[in-house]
Amino acid sequence: MASSAACSKAFNNALFSALVAACLAAVLVSGFQFEVGGKTGWTKPTGKEPETYNQWAAKNRFHIGDTLNFKYQNDSVLVVSSADYLNCNTSNPISKFEDGNTVFKFDRSGFFYFISGQPGNCKSGQKLIVRVMHPSEVEAPELAPSPSAGGGDSGRDWGSPSANSTTKLFFVSYFVTALAGLFVFLYVFM
Ligand SMILES: *[C@@H]1O[C@H](CO)[C@@H](O)[C@H](O)[C@H]1NC(C)=O
Ligand SMILES: *[C@@H]1O[C@H](CO)[C@@H](O)[C@H](O)[C@H]1NC(C)=O
Repeated sequence: MASSAACSKAFNNALFSALVAACLAAVLVSGFQFEVGGKTGWTKPTGKEPETYNQWAAKNRFHIGDTLNFKYQNDSVLVVSSADYLNCNTSNPISKFEDGNTVFKFDRSGFFYFISGQPGNCKSGQKLIVRVMHPSEVEAPELAPSPSAGGGDSGRDWGSPSANSTTKLFFVSYFVTALAGLFVFLYVFM
């Protein structure tokens, strides 16, 4: 009897670990949504912002599958080449979005250049460079991080204060959903 109870406990523990791992994996592949400009959104800077779009971007880590959410009015989001970014040239964008609430998904690693399509706004600082990390830069065993690999310079920075509150909320909501699912599963099958 005792051994069967121990076995059942071990089985439950293994199952629990597998479920937690599955939930974590689901969170990892789903990607983060970053709110560009926080509450202010995507707009021509007034100069009173605590940080520029690029200062914000530099503090975050972007992965393939993550998304940027641009919220704006009477404006647009242009994805441009590096040269057009530097010149604030709006005449030949790679992509143009004008819907006011654009969710842009990173489908590759490397640099992405965003500028406003409104004349003058880019020169006033409504521009953003994002570098999306190459998969090789992302610590491979993310579920069991080894301290030696990557020297702490790779992998997701979950606890970073740089992640804005919306991002954290996004993560938390995912996690709560995953946990809720787990408890439903345990309730139904245990
Ligand atoms: C956008 O344009 C409309 C019409 O020109 C104007 O009424 C509105 O105030 C503008 N909104 C902003 C945030 O500039
Ligand atoms: C913008 O790019 C176009 C096409 O490359 C070029 O003809 C134009 O002169 C550029 N405008 C500015 C202001 O650099």
